[in-house]
Amino acid sequence: MTHTRLVAASALLAGALLAATGCKKEEAPPPPATTAAPVQVAAPTVKIESAKLALFKPLPAAFESPPDNPSTPEKVELGRQLYWDARLSKNHDVSCNSCHMLDKYGVDNKPVSEGHRKQTGTRNSPTVYNAANHFVQFWDGRAANLEEQAKGPVLNPVEHGLKDEAALLAVINSIPEYVEAFGKAFPEDKPAVTFDNFAKAVAAFERTLITPAPWDAFLKGDKNALTEDQKKGFLAFMDAGCQTCHSGEHLGATMFQRLGSVKPWPDPPEGKEPDLGRYDVTKQDSDKMMFKVPGLRNVAKTAPYYHDGSVEDLGAAVQLMAEHQLGKTLSDENVRLIVAFLESLTGEPTAEQMREPQLPPSTDKTPKPDPT
Ligand code: HEC
Ligand code: HEC
Repeated sequence: MTHTRLVAASALLAGALLAATGCKKEEAPPPPATTAAPVQVAAPTVKIESAKLALFKPLPAAFESPPDNPSTPEKVELGRQLYWDARLSKNHDVSCNSCHMLDKYGVDNKPVSEGHRKQTGTRNSPTVYNAANHFVQFWDGRAANLEEQAKGPVLNPVEHGLKDEAALLAVINSIPEYVEAFGKAFPEDKPAVTFDNFAKAVAAFERTLITPAPWDAFLKGDKNALTEDQKKGFLAFMDAGCQTCHSGEHLGATMFQRLGSVKPWPDPPEGKEPDLGRYDVTKQDSDKMMFKVPGLRNVAKTAPYYHDGSVEDLGAAVQLMAEHQLGKTLSDENVRLIVAFLESLTGEPTAEQMREPQLPPSTDKTPKPDPT
């Protein structure tokens, strides 16, 4: 299949070249002697021993739900609505999708996100795609799972900015269609509209956000799923030692590590407090500068990089990793190849995953926006 695609692509390219040269007949080089001969496609030359692949795993067909939050279509659809509903914010202008845009690979592409009244936080928003199986959530791991995570942003003063749980439940309870939908999603709970169930519905929706990539096809045995450069890039990634931290199903998201483990990470600019990462949660000195090793799925689409969004270019981010985490300098060619490999981790979201749902209408009782 890949071969035919390559042949078709080369034929197209040849056609385009001919067309382009056709405009300027004088300077044009002579056309290729024959265009009818079949184009020879080189067999894959880069060999990867299976032992090297043992540290990695393809994404599962679907993310498993925890026993206390089984997935149902009703719950997922409710979660989708809650995810997109800006009324669940103080000024009715911020939803999860504001910072984790589902049609932008689950990020906002800003160094740090803007929330309520355009206030900025201090950290870069990670993608929600494939977050389900991460060992913890947030850069500092302060939430154990998606259910716990979803409770954070709605009450965060610089994100959704709601005062408390009661303020969230008041909005939901003012919208009869929501009350009904919670009843259907959580038939055993009386009342069904609770903060826990809000988080469970959002988490059930997020578990549908899985994006298998060419890398997964490759791991499952399709040797043509990666380009030759991507295969070389994988070998360069391994030779550099990136897999000591970035391995498994997500090429990361299995451990905390110190940022600057070999060479200290530079201090932030004057007047800016350093982000100490995991230390904020545990107050243990040994946790200073420890961050969750991020998963690398879709990383080519989720610039800018690092917890503070300080690096825009993926190649630059790769070189900084080699320098600060491994004490190495990569050649430009190896940076290019590693970036090519990282591109094989891009899995395009489906139309269903990106679908904006119809939201139930407000009523007279729905609290009004509060821009203060
Ligand atoms: C104002 C922007 C903003 C809004 C709104 C927002 N988030 Fe986030 N989100 C962030 C930032 C920034 C982080 C990283 C914060 C940190 O690690 O301390 C984050 C982290 C996360 C993570 C952790 C991912 C990982 O890899 O660790 C998930 C999941 C997530 N948000 C989901 C949600 C959901 C669900 C909502 C809506 C209920 C939401 N976010 C609303 C900005 C936002
Ligand atoms: C010692 C552990 C370790 C090693 C080795 C390591 N990394 Fe990282 N990597 C991390 C940590 C921790 C972060 C998060 C840094 C932060 O706090 O912003 C990270 C972040 C990244 C990011 C940014 C991801 C994002 O979404 O912002 C990329 C890209 C990356 N690493 C690629 C690599 C590559 C390529 C290599 C090999 C050259 C490598 N890493 C080696 C621990 C490591």
